[in-house]
Amino acid sequence: MKILHASDLHFQADCPISRWPRLGWRRVAAQTEFRLLKRRLLFLSVEQTVRRILVDADRAGVDHLIVSGDLTALALPEEFAAAHAALAAWSDRITLVPGNHDRYTPAAMKDRLFEEVFADMLRSDLPEHRREGAFPVVKLPRDGLAVVGLSSARVPLTPGIAAGWVGRAQRDALAAILADPRVTGRAVIVTVHHAPRRPSGRRDWPTHGLWDGEEILDLASRAGVAAVCHGHIHERFRLTGPRGLPIFGAGSSTQRGVEGYWLFDVGPDGLHSAGAVDLSSGS
Ligand SMILES: [Fe+2]
Ligand SMILES: [Fe+2]
Repeated sequence: MKILHASDLHFQADCPISRWPRLGWRRVAAQTEFRLLKRRLLFLSVEQTVRRILVDADRAGVDHLIVSGDLTALALPEEFAAAHAALAAWSDRITLVPGNHDRYTPAAMKDRLFEEVFADMLRSDLPEHRREGAFPVVKLPRDGLAVVGLSSARVPLTPGIAAGWVGRAQRDALAAILADPRVTGRAVIVTVHHAPRRPSGRRDWPTHGLWDGEEILDLASRAGVAAVCHGHIHERFRLTGPRGLPIFGAGSSTQRGVEGYWLFDVGPDGLHSAGAVDLSSGS
């Protein structure tokens, strides 16, 4: 079975200054980074790059697509709509989780915009394990494979803080899923937005990291999970976690200069191979 893992697509809406009064202070503050620091320019080709990734997926015979969060820049309704439209053809073959940018404001979290727009992609094959909204979401795409999506995205106190946590309820649910007879015997891939560890192998900073990352790695590795997939750090890298657990950061699949994804070959006995695909040259 082939799995394509992409992340941090960051679909972005145009926010001219005339629109700022209606954006709220958090999104206005973000415009500093977007405009003055030119972050916006890094994501101008999102739609074309996603199209290219999905063409690659078709050509490679990919069975299932994983997108590990940050589908939007500022959790604006039109950003969600654009991301959903781009991925719609994969709606029955996708696991996706929210990132901190998809929970950018308290209103976006409270209104559950992510869950509303992606409702068709968040249907769980084992809905009785849900503990926090749609999560954990479980996909059983084919015999021998299970994909579990956890939500770690929380509304930050202020822009600039981007930490996350999965929390006790979802961690307990993950333990129950990994022991569920409908899942045991399958290769399991666990997906979460925040990175359990940095490329150096150390824990990420408290203002940016996954606070319960070590608990999740411990749980996953004890259960023999095939891989943990994440995004958030815009760098593509692979680590080996406790008990040999493979951990994959997909980086940003669409950010200019670092575009790309991971392609996995997975069997019921676990991960057979993993290849990092770099789209930055010749794109
Ligand atoms: Fe991101
Ligand atoms: Fe993020």
